[in-house]
Amino acid sequence: MSIDKKNIVIERNVAEDGFLAQPKGFTTKAIHVGQDPDQWKSMAVVPPISMSTTFKQFGPAQHAGFEYGRSGNPTRNVLETCIAALDNGKYGLTFSSGLGVTTAIITMLKAGDNIVAGDDLYGGTNRLLRNVAMNMNISIDFVDATDLAKVENALKPNTKLVWIETPTNPLLKVIDIEAVCAIVHKVPGITVVVDNTFLSSYLQRPLDLGADIVMYSLTKYMNGHSDVIMGAAVMNDEALYEKLKFLQNATGIVPSPFDCYLVNRSLKTLALRMERHKSNSLAVAKFLEKHPKIERVLHPGLPSHPQHELAKRQTFGHSGIMSFYIKGGLKESTLFLKSLEVFTLAESLGGYESLAELPSVMTHASVPEEQRAVLGITDGLIRISVGLEDVDDLIMDLKQSLDKL
Ligand SMILES: Cc1ncc(COP(=O)(O)O)c(C=O)c1O
Repeated sequence: MSIDKKNIVIERNVAEDGFLAQPKGFTTKAIHVGQDPDQWKSMAVVPPISMSTTFKQFGPAQHAGFEYGRSGNPTRNVLETCIAALDNGKYGLTFSSGLGVTTAIITMLKAGDNIVAGDDLYGGTNRLLRNVAMNMNISIDFVDATDLAKVENALKPNTKLVWIETPTNPLLKVIDIEAVCAIVHKVPGITVVVDNTFLSSYLQRPLDLGADIVMYSLTKYMNGHSDVIMGAAVMNDEALYEKLKFLQNATGIVPSPFDCYLVNRSLKTLALRMERHKSNSLAVAKFLEKHPKIERVLHPGLPSHPQHELAKRQTFGHSGIMSFYIKGGLKESTLFLKSLEVFTLAESLGGYESLAELPSVMTHASVPEEQRAVLGITDGLIRISVGLEDVDDLIMDLKQSLDKL
């Protein structure tokens, strides 16, 4: 099945819950785009895993589309085609991890260039920007991108990249993608990248809102089974695609065919999984918001969230990730996390299983202490990834754990 890009209409209908209503056809694309059985001699309905690292040539430099596994692989192609379609993008590329995507994108820059980045990013992205990009003589300005004036004021003649993550990690701030893109694109030559890991292409489509590249840690919701580390970038611009495709091969940050097979399989149930993450997490957020031992819950689906209205205008709902401040500090949060029985105390998010963690000492330990303090990443801030379990069991687990405090 191929998608006629001209026929894609950005629908802005409103669903019953006030968020954007899903246009028809997402799961049909997830199941069929790039998966045509006719492309294989065997006519296999499920795309085969091509493990071969090299491909026979008809004559010197004459081949059937593949020559060496790093530069291209049939199983990877299937996944990249499908991933691009889910974001209404023309081109998809996969990398060996989410940070691998970030590395490839940063490698497009040169010494003396500038990046404007959101100030509340995944800790590993923060580390890569501060400890790797800065060493390459690339300057970075971290700004609170919920404040559009701060984004505009940060742009310089040498700014080449604007990097945002929305909702942010771990504070769940929602950034107005369309407004940021409109501001940045007034200046030619700046690429806007949106890390869409927290929502997946089912719940938010940044290219439709004006972004140049949407990137993913596929490790999270897109694969959703906590058994693959992988990343992806999707874009519409051919020149950008050619640059990143060159870098995918030149830097060698490629995923394995087996992992591509697994992620491709997982996309078939993405919509179903995200609907369940969405409803489970909202029920959990409502429970936590009323609990006397909780100070504040950060969940864009709650009317109390400062950017709730923006989240409703920009997304198709919120996923399973939320953070909350527990009353107390390290002692209380440690006791709470160690008492959980259904939630597992572990880093990561977006899998079928529910996880809980303490960003200040785990995922965001690499963020400088002063920046953590300014942002509000305290020892009482807990981040959870609400999985697909029965929601009553999840709420009971949180309750019994909070009762221990
Ligand atoms: C929002 C976000 N972006 C990027 C990454 C990096 O992805 P990976 O772990 O696949 O390298 C992560 C990982 O946790 C993440 O949460």
